[in-house]
Amino acid sequence: MKEGKKTFYVTTPIYYVNDVPHIGHAYTTIIADAIARFERMMGRKVFFLTGTDEHGQKVQKAAEQKGLSPKELADRVVVNYKKLWKDLNISYDFFIRTTQENHEKGVQEIFMKLKEKGDIYKGIYKGWYCISCENFLSEDVPLNEDGTKTCPDCGKLTEIVEEECYFFKLSKYQRPLLDFYSKNPNFVRPKGRMNEVVSFVKRGLKDLSITRTTVKWGIPVPDDPKHTIYVWFDALHNYLTGIGYGWNEDLFHKFWPADLHLIGKDILRFHAIYWPAFLMAAGLPLPEVVYGHGWWLKDETKMSKSKGNVLDPYLIINTFGADPLRYFLLREIPIGQDGNFSHQGFLHRVNSDLANDLGNLVSRTLTMVHKYFDGEIKEIGEEEEKDRELENEFENLKNNYIQLFEEYAISRALEEIWRYINLINKYLAENEPWKLAKENKNRQRLARILYQVLAGLRGVAYLIYPVMPVSSKKILEFLGENVEVELENLLDLKFSDFKPVKKIAKPEVLFPRIDLKDFLEMPEKKEEKMEQITFDEFKKMDLRVAEILKAERVEGTEKLLKLEIDIGTEKRQIVAGVADVYPPEKLIGKKIIVVANLKPAVIRGVESQGMLLAADLEGKPIIPFFEEDVPPGTKVR
Ligand code: ME8
Ligand code: MG
Repeated sequence: MKEGKKTFYVTTPIYYVNDVPHIGHAYTTIIADAIARFERMMGRKVFFLTGTDEHGQKVQKAAEQKGLSPKELADRVVVNYKKLWKDLNISYDFFIRTTQENHEKGVQEIFMKLKEKGDIYKGIYKGWYCISCENFLSEDVPLNEDGTKTCPDCGKLTEIVEEECYFFKLSKYQRPLLDFYSKNPNFVRPKGRMNEVVSFVKRGLKDLSITRTTVKWGIPVPDDPKHTIYVWFDALHNYLTGIGYGWNEDLFHKFWPADLHLIGKDILRFHAIYWPAFLMAAGLPLPEVVYGHGWWLKDETKMSKSKGNVLDPYLIINTFGADPLRYFLLREIPIGQDGNFSHQGFLHRVNSDLANDLGNLVSRTLTMVHKYFDGEIKEIGEEEEKDRELENEFENLKNNYIQLFEEYAISRALEEIWRYINLINKYLAENEPWKLAKENKNRQRLARILYQVLAGLRGVAYLIYPVMPVSSKKILEFLGENVEVELENLLDLKFSDFKPVKKIAKPEVLFPRIDLKDFLEMPEKKEEKMEQITFDEFKKMDLRVAEILKAERVEGTEKLLKLEIDIGTEKRQIVAGVADVYPPEKLIGKKIIVVANLKPAVIRGVESQGMLLAADLEGKPIIPFFEEDVPPGTKVR
């Protein structure tokens, strides 16, 4: 255990803004979030950094294709990243963009420092360059039959580039790097990847070209601005500038060096070789761990924006919410390995572990607490020998779990939790509370059994918090606790500290069970071509102008508003999922379009007598308002 350690600094890669995020980006960021949440539960001060890599040829080209300036493209894509992180409940502390001034200044400062020191010098570079990866190929890549070279990482054709540029003296750091690796064998994880790195460095390091004159979109060399700093030299330094390097020294010294750079194995060389060499040159301490996780594959090949075989996380989030996706990605494969993403695999795991094992257990237990005790278990009988197992095993579980999480073995940690969940299920089956409930004389014993189960579930709820924060909070709320308030340090969590003082809540469905067939049809529904309709069919819709008279949030929901509207002939109440874009007070007095003859429906217990129209901007509702003074009830055609 990392005793005495008070801070924890974790990073994700900063993602290119050439395209929108996919499951692969979600994966790294979810791992980082789970670790950040775990570290906070351990009482440490955490800084969690993520962000976007916005410079370089790849982004420049993508912007040209879309008819945008690179900055315009970046601004748009950043919205998508931030929205996805919000929808996945990613608790980052700072989102760094490499186009931010603090970052650009920091990179220039370090560049000049290394130049003055002689670790950066001017020369001529000629070599095969892969635009897609922003990388000169290493010498050992063989020529194709037609004399071209193919990039071994992405499979695309490369170009010969010859230019005057600045070099970083990487060769000088071969020896210091090898010394560092041998003193810090856990620097690269998983362990096997350390060997790859060491043998690469042993084969010899050439100086690295770190500027381009052919690329304009990037940070200029301060005293020689026709040279643009290479996107990787630029990007790696985000880990410093993102926590205050050059603009908040206190913050920087509090958290640097990073405890964990989480990355995919595709960019291991940059993080395990170039990055420590840059830091050595700058005289800064080196990070603790670079973890190169495996890839999510689709049809056995790596999902990637460049290949276009990516999966949209919203196909899952829109139906299941964030927790099941987070759980699946973290449970299905150990972090170091590759995994094949399939909707079948996802559904199987979610139905069996979440809906059956955990969801059912919670709902059965709460149902019994209500049926037998009206939500309040009092006069709990003595703990008997056979009740102790749940308590003792919880203590074991907690210790194992902490150890596993500290080794980033999240999948194993989850496995252990589920072993314990099965133990609770077994305890219920063996003690048959439903039989005891038939006779009044067993009430204290019955209360004891339900107490044990609830105390076990409470423990489970705390332990799943890093991976499934929403479900964790829900379960604890049922029991009258709040993980973010109640727990200062996971080490202090005790089974028997559960005090059922408040009335236990009635069960709600935690994880809906969904059929494979229904689920697989969903993506198609999303892209469904609309069939033509006649004007008469269109006329069946009673579209009218309505004025919003009152607006308030529907309790217990984040997105729903209850609106009272005037539709000319009468007042109506409708429910609209617009609260994340429009705060209720902003809507009062606004004129909108409603479908007045839509069959009423009950949404979250509230009746909705109609529907307002809004544009669906990737899940974000944008309501058209009337600027002219149109009376409520006016027909819309
Ligand atoms: O490389 N499976 O950005 P990028 C798992 N800007 N993880 C995946 C994945 C997959 N199929 N696809 C992507 C860059 N990732 C640079 C980084 S850091 C200073 C600069 C994740 O947009 C994984 O973390 O290509 C991978 O390393 C990263 O996205 C690459 O994102
Ligand atoms: Mg990439």
